[in-house]
Amino acid sequence: MMPGAPNRTKHQRFITMTLPVNTNLAAGGAEGIRFVCPTCRLALQAGNDVYHCRHCADEFRVSDGIHCFFIDSRDAGVTEIGRYTESFRRPETAAAYQRSFERIARKRWRTRRELSVLDELLGGDPGPSVLNIPCGSGRLSPPLHNGAGTLLEADSSPGQLSLNRGRFGDCEGRIWMTASAFDIPLPDDAVETVVCARLSHHLNCASERARLLGELLRVARRRVVFSFRNRASLSSWSRRLRGKPVHSTAMSVADVRLIARRHDARVVRCRSVSNLGARHTYALIEKVTSAA
Ligand SMILES: C[S@@+](CC[C@H](N)C(=O)[O-])C[C@H]1O[C@@H](n2cnc3c(N)ncnc32)[C@H](O)[C@@H]1O
Ligand SMILES: [Zn+2]
Repeated sequence: MMPGAPNRTKHQRFITMTLPVNTNLAAGGAEGIRFVCPTCRLALQAGNDVYHCRHCADEFRVSDGIHCFFIDSRDAGVTEIGRYTESFRRPETAAAYQRSFERIARKRWRTRRELSVLDELLGGDPGPSVLNIPCGSGRLSPPLHNGAGTLLEADSSPGQLSLNRGRFGDCEGRIWMTASAFDIPLPDDAVETVVCARLSHHLNCASERARLLGELLRVARRRVVFSFRNRASLSSWSRRLRGKPVHSTAMSVADVRLIARRHDARVVRCRSVSNLGARHTYALIEKVTSAA
């Protein structure tokens, strides 16, 4: 076992899927993305549509153009998210999520606003390589698909990937993969930018939120855009005034700063999804080495 690698039993649940054939098994274009074993983080040996980990004796298939790297992080002690992750593996859940964002005016507004926050935090330039995890059905993907040289669209749900891929299609430098955001199959500093929208607010446990952000910062070379439920939002204040506890999934900007600092990074800017202080806030976090 590698130092710092998660201590996991060998029971890993793989996702298989049937999707249109991807003729472009992109290896990351100019960025030359290398994959590592999500369990032990050692380099993988590439075979014919399969990657092998010699250390764990595990295989990760490339099925119909999808790199299947998802491992169930519950085996490594991330227990909070399990049921949520599981629910999204069903294609109906993925489709319902997408439909709700198309049908409901308030959600369409939210998407427009989040796209503009994302664009602002990225300075209008996603950069040479981006990991978008979880990418979902591609709600926030348009600026990434348009601008990034190499784009890794990753999600635990094959259904979400399928919707996303159906929308944007295959092209050079685009990699589709199932992966857990807690065990990303990439080496340290693998991609310039990591985007993680709307996942941390499904975690009640502070240590799991810290582990998630730590993992994102590990694979990011320059910056992470990370969304969280803000303890300082209007809705949190309203709960306090009504004598109710603040939501257990909420984080303060100070919490995010502290986790960032532990991983040699700093919060550069935060933007709320609404000017009135919506629950959701996006933080731009830069690695200190790249910001210097
Ligand atoms: C609320 S959606 C957000 C998707 C996208 N970022 C957006 O804003 O539209 C949450 C996504 O997280 C994915 N997910 C759940 N658990 C995950 C995990 N452990 N690793 C990666 N993705 C996960 C789900 O499949 C779902 O697509
Ligand atoms: Zn391994």
